[in-house]
Amino acid sequence: MPYKKLIEKAYKAKEMAYVPYSKFQVGAAVLTDSGKIFTGCNIENASYGATNCAERTAIFKAISEGERNFKAIAIVSSSGDFTYPCGICRQVIVEFMKDGEIILANEKGEYKVYTVQEILPFAFTEKDIK
Ligand code: THU
Repeated sequence: MPYKKLIEKAYKAKEMAYVPYSKFQVGAAVLTDSGKIFTGCNIENASYGATNCAERTAIFKAISEGERNFKAIAIVSSSGDFTYPCGICRQVIVEFMKDGEIILANEKGEYKVYTVQEILPFAFTEKDIK
């Protein structure tokens, strides 16, 4: 399986999810162009709206450590099924991953791979700011 290590790291991160409201655990792991891996979990909030998804936790950790480009992001959850990134996370992924792959894995060892273009066609990016 390609990205086996990345998926394993996402599963480990899922265990750290702070989810007292939904009880739905999500884990993500990003692979940087420089070969490093950063992980994240979802972090909920009593306001609900201040919740941060696992994908953005992983990406923001990496960005705040100086990384700028990602090759791939693996996403897993406690649902037993594939979990697709929400719209806000797709927009954040596009900002930092131009040609990378989005890997969704489930607990049966199955996985799907998507391109950035597939998950967010017609994306609004820096080139659209005039
Ligand atoms: N969530 C993620 O962390 N990533 C996704 O791709 C989908 C949703 C979280 C946010 C919230 O903590 C819970 O899942 C239910 O929406």
